Amino acid sequence: MFDALARQPDDPLLALIGLFRADERPGKVDLGVGVYRDETGRTPIFRAVKAAEKRLLETQETKAYVGPEGDLAFLDHLWKLVAGDTVERSRVAGVQTPGGSGALRLAADLLARIGGRGIWLGLPSWPNHPPIFKAAGLTIATYDFFDIPSQSVIFDNVVSALEGAAPGDAVLLHASCHNPTGGVLSVAQWLEIATLVNQRGLLPLVDLAYQGFGRGLEQDVAGLRHLLGVVPEALVAVSCSKSFGLYRERTGAIFGVTASPASADTVRSNLAGIARTSYSMPPDHGAAVVRTILADPELQRDWAEELEAMRLRMTGIRQALAEGLRGRWQSLGAVAEQEGMFSILPLTEAEVMRLRTEHAIYMPASGRINIAGLKTAEVADVIAKFTSL
Ligand code: LMR
Repeated sequence: MFDALARQPDDPLLALIGLFRADERPGKVDLGVGVYRDETGRTPIFRAVKAAEKRLLETQETKAYVGPEGDLAFLDHLWKLVAGDTVERSRVAGVQTPGGSGALRLAADLLARIGGRGIWLGLPSWPNHPPIFKAAGLTIATYDFFDIPSQSVIFDNVVSALEGAAPGDAVLLHASCHNPTGGVLSVAQWLEIATLVNQRGLLPLVDLAYQGFGRGLEQDVAGLRHLLGVVPEALVAVSCSKSFGLYRERTGAIFGVTASPASADTVRSNLAGIARTSYSMPPDHGAAVVRTILADPELQRDWAEELEAMRLRMTGIRQALAEGLRGRWQSLGAVAEQEGMFSILPLTEAEVMRLRTEHAIYMPASGRINIAGLKTAEVADVIAKFTSL
């Protein structure tokens, strides 16, 4: 039977983990998969996560099932962190998911249930966006979101894509810290998007995976909050992987913002039903950790402080990189103003491969670099290798 299957290519981004690990050269540099690293190259566990885990170990009394929606208190706290008081909770359907990818897949399956409408995707985007939407049977329409040579968001293209979208179409937006470009939308641009969404009768699906990694915890959701303040309906896919450093715990949530409490209940039941037929229930541990942190002001303060220190480290690396790279590519000075973990360099695939084989510098073929993969001490050397190409 299995002969009917064709071998599939490994995920090119995740394959970098194994390739990097297998490279025995000293001084190798991993700018591949989006994982935060500190100045020693470690991906730390937040102090608040350790404290919450200790508390859970001491107080948790059962491992009985939680249910397809997951931890309801986690959902309440997370929604508050994301949306503040922008939307009454009664209009919001929340379901805990296995990571941000699980949230996106549930959203895509829900869109398919609504009627298989298309989804608009600005390119380049996270490489897993198209496969997730395709797997759910959605039709993807693309437009160019970012111009790599000039390092700028092509906002005119966003506007014309939304103007050309059909009522009922979904539109994927990155809340902040755009993956893979770091490109930033201003609040005025978010408001323009919101106006178009309302005029055209579109459904925004906002991917929020890096809250706190860009300008700050509040600033990174400012555009999203403006949007939620004016659109009647939206989907928000949240990942706790980076913001809480819980990567392997697969912690996230999908929130459906609806027009009424009755509609929220319908959306919730559909999301829960999709979860039940996909994986039944989400893993508990990461959500219990996030809930414990967000429910305790002291833990929350400590978590936010550590997150801010990470953000500042990335900002410092961005400044140094921009300074060095603009000598080779004038436009790369923009790296300093971009936000989050990623920027994308104007490299050919052959140049990316040369960096890998000649210098043990790893990044995906797209030329995306994980800013947080760099240590301050190695920035000058890496810039020299980039500019020697
Ligand atoms: C990335 O873009 O590198 C991260 O979001 C990790 C992943 O799952 O792709």
